[in-house]
Formats: sequence, C-alpha cells, structure tokens
Amino acid sequence: MGEASLDLTERFLRSCRGEAVDRAPVWLMRQAGRYLPEYRAVREGLSFLDFCRDVEKAVEVSLQPLDLVGTEAVIVFSDIFVPVPAMGVELDFAPGPVIAEPIRSAAQVEALRVPEPRETVPYVFEILRTLRAELEGRKVPLLGFAGAPFTLAAYLVEGRGSRDFPQLRRMMREAPEVLRALLEKLTALVVAHLEAQVEAGAHAVQLFDTWAGLLGPEEYREWVHPSHREIAAKLPRDRAPLILYVKGAPHLFDFTVESGADVVSVDWRIDLAEAARRAEGRVSLQGNLDPGLLWAPPELIAERVMAMRQAGRAARGHVLNLGHGVLPGTPVEGVRAFTAAARAEAPA
Ligand code: CP3
Repeated sequence: MGEASLDLTERFLRSCRGEAVDRAPVWLMRQAGRYLPEYRAVREGLSFLDFCRDVEKAVEVSLQPLDLVGTEAVIVFSDIFVPVPAMGVELDFAPGPVIAEPIRSAAQVEALRVPEPRETVPYVFEILRTLRAELEGRKVPLLGFAGAPFTLAAYLVEGRGSRDFPQLRRMMREAPEVLRALLEKLTALVVAHLEAQVEAGAHAVQLFDTWAGLLGPEEYREWVHPSHREIAAKLPRDRAPLILYVKGAPHLFDFTVESGADVVSVDWRIDLAEAARRAEGRVSLQGNLDPGLLWAPPELIAERVMAMRQAGRAARGHVLNLGHGVLPGTPVEGVRAFTAAARAEAPA
C-alpha cells in the first residue's frame, strides 16, 4: 500500500504507532465547544451534564469540528467527570466541576464505589457507537478519553479547580494513605471506562492529566507515574493506541516516555524538536502549538504550523495538535488557519 493512499484512520493510527505516513494528521483538544457558535446553539438551555447525556446532541457537537474547522479526528463529546457521580460523588459544573462535599477523609474514600461504566453511563458508549457508524464511510478516526486519576483526585479533594491545589498537597503529606486509596479506586474506574470506550468503537484513547505537572519529579514518581503505567498495561493497546497528555510537564517528559503510552502529548513549554530527540523513537508525539497563537494572523499561524511539522519529523510519529484545549473566545478563523496549514501538501 502506498503511503499516499492512506485514509484518515490509517494515517492517524500509523502516526500513533510510529509507522511511515505521507504527513501528520491533525485534530485539536477541546475542538467541540464554546468558541463555535454552532456548539452554543445546540447547548442552549441544557445543563452541561444533561447535554453530555443527550445522545443525539452529543453526537452532533462531536461531529461539528470535522466540517466547520477541518479536523481529521473526532473526539467523543463528554467530560472527564461524566463517570464520577456514580462513585457516589455529588457534583456540578460552574462551568468547571464543583464537588458538593470534597473528599478529605478515609471514611469518604471507603464509601466510594467503583462503578461499571457500561451500566452507569451507558449513553457514553451509545454516543461512541453512533459516531463510529457515522464516521465509517469517511474513514475518520474516533477518539475516546478519560481524566487521569491524579487530575480527578485533584478536583475531588480540592472541591473545584485551583491554581495550587493546597488541600490536595496537604493530603499528600498528612494523609497519604487516604490519597493512595482514592487514586486506586480512580485508576480502576479509568481502566474500565477506557476499555468500554474501545469496545464501543474508539480507535484510540487519550488520558488527560492536566494537573500532574504541578508536581516535581520525586512526587510525580510516587503519585502519578505508577497509575499511568498500570493504565497502559491494562488497556488493549494493540486495538487502540493510548495517548498521554500531561500539561506543563517538560520536567517530567522522560517519565511520560516511560509510561507505556504510544503517544505523548506535549504542550508549548517544551521545544518539540528537543522532545523528539529525548523520545529516542520510543513514543510518537502529539502537539504542541500554544492555543493563544490562534489569535495571531493566519500567515503567522501557518508559519508556526510549518515549523511544528518540520520539528515533528524528528519524532517516530507526530499528531498535530495544540498544547492544550482550544480556549473559549478563540476566533474560528484562527482554528481554520491551523488545520489548513496542517493539511497543506507536505513541502518536498
Ligand atoms: O475535546 C473535546 O472537544 C471533547 C470534550 C471535552 C470536554 N472536556 C468538554 C467540556 C474534553 C476532552 C474535556 C476534558 C476535561 N474536562 C479536562 C482535561 C483537559 C483540559 O482541558 O485540561 C478537564 C480538566 C475537564 C474538567 C472541566 N470540564 C473543566 C475545568 C471545565 C470548565 C472550564 C472549561 O475549560 O470549559 C469543564 C466543562 C466543559 N467540558 C466544557 C466542555 C465543552 C464547557 C461546558 C460549557 O459548554 O459550558
């Protein structure tokens, strides 16, 4: 098979596995969302969790970025907190997750269930199955995802998003066994949730560890790295490659390369060419344009995307993406300039 005749799914999966491709595929983290007027129109009048449960609407907004902004993969519309209420945690979105009773004690962790997502959030898998059927003819790859245990625990302990997560860091020192028990339950939930997404048709899955970059290497080695390795080891990665994203983590890059993931998604705080060198062919890379660049003129976006494509060629495989999610208020034109430059004929 010639590399030039690759369909979108083959190009994506081959890039994840470090096999030869004609050019790198492109998608954007948080590609469905508030920057799109078409998303806001569908979302209108529904609470965020009800929106995530509405199969027809979730399918619609998952597909929107394909034609509206030209991405080459679809990520299922959901949230990292969707499988969590069934553990016995009351939460709301305002707009980020807010936990009614933050988890601070051994008794609270003890009381948490490890639910079977196929039973408690069946709509997630119905959305995936519907998307997979819709995308079959277009050969577009479908991604599932989960929040990593540390990031989920960060919100559950703190009670909401935070810059420094003081309660979480206090628990690491004052009640490490409580945090450890919480991380164990979350790890089991994440494995079950990702497995079920692969079974429902996800071609690949991404693990989001947005807050693990808070930690220094010693703490990361103790509190984060083992759960990534466990998740990677338990997933059927031959069926669906695993992408690991840790935000703000140039100092932890070598750990992520050793996580067992197929692809490491990096942000703009690390030089992509340097990341490619340090990866030494062990993983593919994803990223890493600063989402703030999408406010730049289209010519500058194109220039930066071309530089990113060039740097990515030193990696075993590369998936073009941002270094974090699309920010609310991002001009749609900037997103289109990004995907257009990513899809342009590779320079000889
Ligand atoms: O990428 C996609 O398009 C798929 C959907 C997706 C959402 N959340 C939808 C969403 C994904 C992959 C996520 C992941 C997520 N959610 C993460 C990890 C990645 C990251 O961005 O760091 C985290 C930490 C969350 C938790 C969360 N959910 C926060 C902090 C917020 C509010 C702030 C924000 O960035 O929007 C949410 C709400 C949320 N999740 C929205 C969307 C589209 C906004 C809801 C709305 O329409 O008001």
